[in-house]
Formats: sequence, structure tokens, C-alpha cells
Amino acid sequence: MATTISFINVKGGVGKTTIILNLAHALQQLGKRILLIDMDLQQNLSDKMVAHPNSVKLTVYDLLRQDELAVDTCIYDTHVEGVQIIPSELEIVRIKNEFDSASKPETLFRLRDKIETVKSRYDYIFIDLHPDVDLLTTMALIASDKYVIPIKSDADSIKGVKIVDEYVGQLFRINKYLKELGILITDYDKRTALAKHLLEGMEKLVGERLMKSIIGRNVAITAAAVERKTIFQYDSRQSGCQAFRTLAQEIIQKCEGVEGVTPNKKVNLHG
Ligand SMILES: Nc1ncnc2c1ncn2[C@@H]1O[C@H](COP(=O)(O)OP(=O)(O)O)[C@@H](O)[C@H]1O
Ligand SMILES: [Mg+2]
Repeated sequence: MATTISFINVKGGVGKTTIILNLAHALQQLGKRILLIDMDLQQNLSDKMVAHPNSVKLTVYDLLRQDELAVDTCIYDTHVEGVQIIPSELEIVRIKNEFDSASKPETLFRLRDKIETVKSRYDYIFIDLHPDVDLLTTMALIASDKYVIPIKSDADSIKGVKIVDEYVGQLFRINKYLKELGILITDYDKRTALAKHLLEGMEKLVGERLMKSIIGRNVAITAAAVERKTIFQYDSRQSGCQAFRTLAQEIIQKCEGVEGVTPNKKVNLHG
């Protein structure tokens, strides 16, 4: 049964999409089956991962609007075997106006209920969010077992974590099973004094909440994204590969209570 993890931050450009697609590939290399759900109207994850963009007919917007629509009709292959995706589209922004969650609170649970029908086919489901706390975020976190707060080592990060904390604090009333996996520092440039200073500050403030893995700055990660590649597809010798492998092990350890193992059987998404 899949563990569903949302990646959330109210600040944009903190590396959410980058983490999701590279972590997905690292986990796939450990034999895990992954479903990505893009709920960001910027659709960066979809743009970078969908194998055949022209084949996309239905998106997460259709899935959320149409109660009867089966999840399978919205799932597409990515260019990483064993990783699939429910893409996003700009129109998802309309959801806020179209959904009347006050008079029909059950709509808030629609994503959770739909994901439930495919959970047995995956090990991990990752939800990419836009930088906001709104109806879409609420639907995602109701559907999630866990969440990660990615941050870059910059001055706004602590503020962003505080806002997420307040928001998630209210959500625990609706989803009491929701658990934080941790705050994940990414794009960390160990050569700069500012980054070091901020890391020390974060350690003092939220030390026990920081994930053990830190994703360092690696320009190849951006170069890979421009070519619609994961860091593993771009150049397997890059430092980013090891960083995402270590993160994958930490995720497995935290979610499954075991260290990751090299796969001995082929991934079969349709089995
Ligand atoms: N570890 C990293 N090293 C170098 N650049 C990174 C790293 N992580 C993210 N970036 C770059 O930072 C920018 C924002 O990342 P992105 O994943 O799009 O953030 P978000 O999804 O939170 O908006 C992108 O250009 C991305 O390539
Ligand atoms: Mg993004």
C-alpha cells in the first residue's frame, strides 16, 4: 500500500518539483513504484516528466471535478519506467470557484477517495503543490499520509515553515493521521557563510524536525531539468545523484522502517 507524501511550502522556488522528480527516480532505482500527482497550476512537474505530452487528455483538474471519473483515465507514463503521473493544467485554478466545499464538504475528500483506489499499485505517491495554502493544498493534505517541507537556505525559509505549521495545525483536525516527515534543506551551498549561518539557525529552532539528508547545490540539477531529465539520466556521476539516493534511503527508512534494497524483480505497474 502506497504512502502518500505532499511536498509543501508557501514560498515558491524552494526546490519542490526538483526534489519530487529526482527522488522518484532514486526510489525507482530501488525497485519502488511511484505515482506523481501534479497539483501545481504551473505544471512544471508535468512538463518535465510526462513521456508523451501530446497524449494527455485528462488531468488532475478533470479528476477533481468529475466525481465519476476513474483515476486510471488520468494516469500517464513518465520517461522514467516505473514512475507514472497524473498531470496538471492551468485550469486547475478554477477549482477554487467551482468547488463549494462549505455546503458540500465531501468534495474535500474526493482526491483522497480516488487515490485510495490505486494505492495498492504503488509504493509511494508524491503530490507537488503550488506555493499557497488553499483549497488545493487542503485536498492534497487530506489525501496524504505524510508531508515534507522543502526549504532553501535563505532568510524567508523560517517564515515559510511557520505559516505551513499554522496551516497544518488546523488540518490535523480533519486528517488526524497526517504526519510530518521533516523539513528538507535543499540547494544548500556549503561554501557560503550565509547558508551555514541559516543552517545553524534552523538547527537551533527546529533541529529535531530537520531531515538528516541535505540536498547540496548542484548546477547539473538545473541543467538536467532544462533537458527534461532527472539528474540520474543527465549524468550519473554528479553529486546530486548520491544526495537523492541518500534521501531515498531516509524516506524508505522513515516510511517502511527498513533500509532500501537493490531490486531483484522488475517493476510491473500493471500487475
Ligand atoms: N539542489 C539544487 N541545486 C541547484 N539548483 C537547484 C537545486 N534544487 C533546485 N534548484 C533550482 O531551483 C529552481 C527552483 O526549483 P523548483 O524545483 O522549480 O522549485 P519549486 O517547485 O519549489 O517552485 C530551479 O531552477 C531548480 O533547477
Ligand atoms: Mg514546482
